[in-house]
Amino acid sequence: MTLNFAHRGSLTEAPENTLPAFQKAIAHGAKAIEFDIQLTKDNYLVVCHDHKLTRFNPWTNKRITDLTLSELKQIDIGSSFNENYTGITVPTLDEVLELCPKNILLNIEIKNIPVIYKGIEEQLIHCLSKYNRFENILISSFDHVALKNVQEIAPTLPLGMLFYYRILNPWDYATKSGLNIASIHPNNVYTDRQLIEHCHNKGYQVYPFTVNKKERFNELVAYGVDGVFSNNPEIFSHE
Ligand code: G3P
Ligand code: CA
Repeated sequence: MTLNFAHRGSLTEAPENTLPAFQKAIAHGAKAIEFDIQLTKDNYLVVCHDHKLTRFNPWTNKRITDLTLSELKQIDIGSSFNENYTGITVPTLDEVLELCPKNILLNIEIKNIPVIYKGIEEQLIHCLSKYNRFENILISSFDHVALKNVQEIAPTLPLGMLFYYRILNPWDYATKSGLNIASIHPNNVYTDRQLIEHCHNKGYQVYPFTVNKKERFNELVAYGVDGVFSNNPEIFSHE
């Protein structure tokens, strides 16, 4: 079976990384959901991709790291998607964990670039402990130091190593890192059969991002890919 991660929830149907987007993904039967986490000024974990909310609300240009949770919760990020979502705000990680059933694999991406969220790894593990949520969790990041920090706190949590650019032999890099890497998450643009085979030989699953065309999805499946991140709910159902 090829896993289809609902990327930021079902983002074509509801504002990305919001509770309605996750509700839609769950309703579609998504077996895996990906989302991004950041820290507010007062150290609350929130689920959002961008460091500023300007893409969703042109009236704000402050960074999440400069806003308290209560200030963040006053910012509407839904109405720019469509008026039915007016009043929707950035969810906390708590809210997302409470919403998503434990049988869904949650890929939590630590957004640590370009802002470094000091202590985000401890906060994340604390939150997972609060919900006793260590099964069906995959922690990923482009910031591999953040992955190392996670491993030091929670050594058994599976880690996903994200690569935006091509690097030489990422499978060797992952092995030499000494990290508990379960999966390599390469940019879909340069994912090919050879990369997948090398990763498999080292024991890593391969989950490229972001795959939105069915033809490309089928091609990657033929290469033996283990899963993809996708914005398109209609390919969630692939078995
Ligand atoms: O985790 C896969 C993908 O989400 C990484 O890129 O920029 O969409 O967070 P980005
Ligand atoms: Ca992401």
